[in-house]
Formats: sequence, C-alpha cells, structure tokens
Amino acid sequence: MISKNTIAEIFDKMAIEDIVGDFVSLRNRGVNKLGLCPFHNEKTPSFTVSPAKNIFKCFGCGRGGNGIDFLMEHEALSYPEALRYVAKMYNIDVEEDVTKAEDRTESLYRESLQIVNNFALDHYKDALHNTDLGRSVGLGYMKQRGFTDKTIATFELGFAARSPRNAFTQKAVEAGYNEDMLRALGLTNKHGSDFFFDRIMFPIHSLSGLVLAFAGRILKKNDNAPKYLNSPETEIYQKRKILFGMHLAKRAIRNENLCFLVEGYTDVMMMHQHGVENVVATSGTALTPDQIRIIKRYTENICLIFDADQAGVKASVRGIDLILEADMNVQILTLPEGEDPDSFVQSKGQAGFAEYFEEEVKDFLLYKAELGKLATADDPVHRAQTIQELVDSISKIQDGIKRHLYVKETAALMNIPESALVEELEKKLEKNHQRSRAAEFRNAQKEKEKPNSEVSPQSEKKKSVDLRLEENIIRILIQHGDKPIDEEQNVTEFVIENLEDVVDFFEDETLKAILEIYQEFNEKSEVPDLHYLTHETSTEIRKTVIDLQEGRFDSHYSENWVKMWDMDLQTQPAPQKNQKRDVQEAIMRFKLNKATKLCDLNKQEIQKYEAEDNMVEYLKHLQIQQKLIEMRNVFAKEFQTTVLK
Ligand code: CTP
Ligand code: MN
Repeated sequence: MISKNTIAEIFDKMAIEDIVGDFVSLRNRGVNKLGLCPFHNEKTPSFTVSPAKNIFKCFGCGRGGNGIDFLMEHEALSYPEALRYVAKMYNIDVEEDVTKAEDRTESLYRESLQIVNNFALDHYKDALHNTDLGRSVGLGYMKQRGFTDKTIATFELGFAARSPRNAFTQKAVEAGYNEDMLRALGLTNKHGSDFFFDRIMFPIHSLSGLVLAFAGRILKKNDNAPKYLNSPETEIYQKRKILFGMHLAKRAIRNENLCFLVEGYTDVMMMHQHGVENVVATSGTALTPDQIRIIKRYTENICLIFDADQAGVKASVRGIDLILEADMNVQILTLPEGEDPDSFVQSKGQAGFAEYFEEEVKDFLLYKAELGKLATADDPVHRAQTIQELVDSISKIQDGIKRHLYVKETAALMNIPESALVEELEKKLEKNHQRSRAAEFRNAQKEKEKPNSEVSPQSEKKKSVDLRLEENIIRILIQHGDKPIDEEQNVTEFVIENLEDVVDFFEDETLKAILEIYQEFNEKSEVPDLHYLTHETSTEIRKTVIDLQEGRFDSHYSENWVKMWDMDLQTQPAPQKNQKRDVQEAIMRFKLNKATKLCDLNKQEIQKYEAEDNMVEYLKHLQIQQKLIEMRNVFAKEFQTTVLK
C-alpha cells in the first residue's frame, strides 16, 4: 500500500494539465484549457481542464474528476497504478506502508498479483539473456526468425527452460512469494511444477505497460502440444478486455488516426520492428466490444489485416458489424496468398507495406461485396443474399449520412436501384429499433419486478424535486461555503445550524455524505476546500462535487460558458444580504418540501389503518398528522416571511 504521505505529495505536485496533456491536445481558453473529449465522440471541444481547480470536466458527456480519475478512466488503471504513474511523472519516491496480513482488500490482492508477475517477468527475461540455454535456444530461435535485439527487449520477451521442471516456482517460493498466488496466476501447476517450460515467453501488458499475463510459444513444432500456452484469466487479466501490444501502439494509433488489427503476437512484433507501430492483436480470439471500445479511445478507424487463406472470414465479418455498431469505420486489407503480416512486412519492408496498403485496402462494403461475388457469380439467389448481407451491415451504422453514402455505393456496386436498397434498409432499421425497444421494455419490466424498487412515475417525479432541492443546498455549500453570511457566521455555519434537525431527511446518499463532511469540518470551525473535496473523497462524491461546483451552466454546454465563467471569477461576490437570502431560500424550500412530503406519506398510513380497522394505529397517526401539519405551517410561514416578503 502506498503511504498517506506519498499520496499527499502526489496530490500536491500533480497538475491536471500535465496529466491530461499527454493524451489530449489542449488549447488555452481564458483561465481554462479546452480540447476534444477523449471519452466520447465530438467535433466541437467541450472537454475542459481547470488548472486552478486541478480538475477536468466534459460538458458533453459529463465525465469529470481529478488527474488520478482521468488516468483510471482513460488508461484503465487501478487506483494504486494511477498513483504510481503520477509519482513516476514527477520523480516522487513511493513510500510503501507495511500492511497487516489480514488486510486483504481486493486492490491489494490485485497489486500482489502484479508484483508476482513482475517477478516472473524478470525471471523469464533473465533466463533468455543470461543463461547459455536461453541464449542459444531461445534468443537463437527469435533471431533466426528475424527479430532484432531491440524488438525482443521492447516486447520484454523471455525464456522458460526445459529443466529443472520447477526452476521458476522454486525460485519464487524461495524469494518468499505465496504459492497459492503462483497457482492463481497459472505460473505453477497443481503439482508445484512450472506451467511454462521449454517455451519463448511473451508477456501480455496492460494499457500502461504492466504485465498481466503470459503466452508461451513452443520452440519446435510438436503435434501433441499446443503452439501457445496462455495464462488463465485472473483478477488482473481478462482476455476480452486486452489487446496485445496496445501499450506500445496507443500513441502511434492516435497520431496515425488508424489502428491495424492482426491475429498473431509475432505479427504485431514484426510490424512494429518495421516502423508500423499502430498495430495490435486479439490473441487469436474473436474481436470483442470491450476491445473495440479501447481502440475507440485513440481512433475511430480500424483496419483488419487478413491472410489470403482466411479460415476465419466468418468470424471477421462479425467483427466488422461490431465495429460498425460502435460507430467506427472499418477497412480490410487482405494479404497475398501464403503471406501473414509477419512474413509480408519482413519481405517488403515499411515502404512496401505502405504501398500495398494504399492500393489494396478495401472498405468493408467492397470487401463483403467481393466475398459475395466470389461465391455467387451471376446466380440471382446468391446475389440477393449478398445484397441482404450488405444492407445488414449498413443498418448497423449509427450515422445516417454515412448510411446514405453506403447505400449509393452498394447500388452502384451490385447494380441495383437505390430505392430497392432503401426499402430493405428501412425494414432492417425498423427491426433493429424494435429489438432495442423490446430490450428496453424487458429491462424496465425487470426493474419493476425487483422487490423494494419504487419506480412508479409519481415517486420518480417527487424524487427529482427532492434531488433538486438537496442539490441546491450542497451547491451553495460548495460554491460559497467559506464566504461570510453576516458579521458572525459564514455560509457553512449558517447552513449546518439551520439544517441540524433535518439532516436525516436527505435522501440522496452522496449529497448527504457531502453534507456530513461539511458538518465534520464545521465542528472544527473549518470549511472543506475544493481541493479536498475533489481529491480526497470517494468517486461518487468527487463526481457530484465537480458537477455542482460550477452551477450556473449546469449540465448543458454553452459556447460562451468559459468566457462567462472567467468573468464571474473577476466580479465581486454578490452582496451579503442577497447571499443570505439565497441560502435561506434553499433551506426553507427543502424543509417545506420535506414537511409536505411527510404529511402525504402519513396520510396514506392513516387511510391504510382506517381500511384495516386498526383503531389504535389510526388514532396515533391522526395525532402525528396534526404535528406534521403544524410543522409544515411553521415552515411555510417562515418561508413567506423570509423569502417571499
Ligand atoms: N493462438 C493461441 N493458441 C494457439 C494458437 C494460436 O493462443 N494454440 C493465438 C496466439 O495469440 C497467436 C494467434 O493465435 O499469436 C495467431 O496464431 P498463429 O498465427 O498460429 O501464431 P503466430 O503468432 O503467428 O505465431 P508464429 O508466427 O510464431 O507461428
Ligand atoms: Mn505467424
């Protein structure tokens, strides 16, 4: 665990613009910086970084947070990983707290798996470079296949020796690593021997370059053993969320605005070696929506590279539709007969590859059409089927204009009137639409069936009123908590004093938690500052605070808001009298709403007991009603005298 002191130092030194600036190009806009949001598609920048507040906020998709939040989201890092990342940026020494044995939080477990993997990585690398067998057999094999020392080092390849069969496990246990953990990671088998032996070791990295798993390639062809052995899935390794080589490719993908997708580890390595760095692999499995989403953070354009003798064309067609559904563009490059990306780039070099790409890359539509034509010649039944498949893919495209262009292209390609295609397309779109509506309906049904869920439209409506009133109070605290309300009190003191009796009525857990933070600070006559609220609290609190700290421009993005905000910062705070009135109004509205609501609820109880003929409860609730109405009238009167006068 990273020590409190280190975390404080990290929070102290990190500057949001440094962290975000590595991933998003930002331009100055008043006191803020503005760029295109990396978390959603946009053409007009609404992603805002405030160096003064040390936070970011997107007015398009609503994401916001501090530098650590940004890294966790953007780079898919865990909290400690993000802290370490920042520590490295600023050369901060990371001090570790010695933790108790029973302190087994999930993140600690993940961290431990990571540490064991790092140890394994060092062991395998050492075996490749610093043992005779590793050098002659392992390095010899990779060199003979054309890989340079630099590539081997970049991808951190290693070697697992043939014997002794427990070379790694023994070394790890002697170094104090827990055997259960070695087993959980699939490095050691149930008999206590090494899982990987006599293989070249390919580490599989996270986006930020941490080793999550390994693949071991056999050295000699052997029909009785699989070519690759892979680590099992663990808390830190989920196949469907990982793309091999992404940690090395992400910058190039962003710069080139294109991601090549290949099948093999060696394909990625060889292309990288020849200067094509925007390339990743799916590790032999079909492309998943999770993987597509990762690529989408860096580019909207994917090019699938296929061997000519594609066994998996069917699987790849599914991949095409998934990419289209994600609102991305997909092209296909088919390599000449008998070549894979590894052999092709090795024989043709970077320039040869670029030239081939220019000439041969096909839009998914052309690719599918040709696939269809190949099999169909002029058979009308097959032609119709191909057209159906094309329309099917087009119906997956989100963007209406793009759909239209593809209809035009298909019409020309398949020699069929556009109107016929449009008709088909509309049927498909309607069907897709119905399907998603049906899914929505099913989900809503499920929600209703859940016990305790109160989703009747009326309570929904009430809830939003409550929420707004609660938010209003918290917004005032966040924006003005430290300002004086009169000669004696600041806003926080005033709010806490006036809300004391109704704090428990706060319904939104997060807003209530924020109020409690203010209470805690208030007891020491302090007010929490924005830095504290946006850095040292839970994720939900941080998010809510960031949403509320800048209230006037709420959720919708206005072109001018930055300018207006800057102005607002330069003008004088509102006169004290108005400040007090605003605060009072927010509190009174909240109280009045609560009292009214309690009256309504109690009325229902009364009716219930009346129907049940339960006289005791009935009378008791009548009395309660009396009290509640009195209370409400007091609030209403206060409200009138302080607010409406
Ligand atoms: N793969 C696997 N297990 C296997 C075979 C293949 O996990 N038994 C995965 C690996 O991720 C491999 C990819 O499928 O990289 C593509 O397989 P292949 O083309 O056979 O492997 P290459 O990586 O090209 O390996 P090499 O060139 O060394 O034969
Ligand atoms: Mn290969």
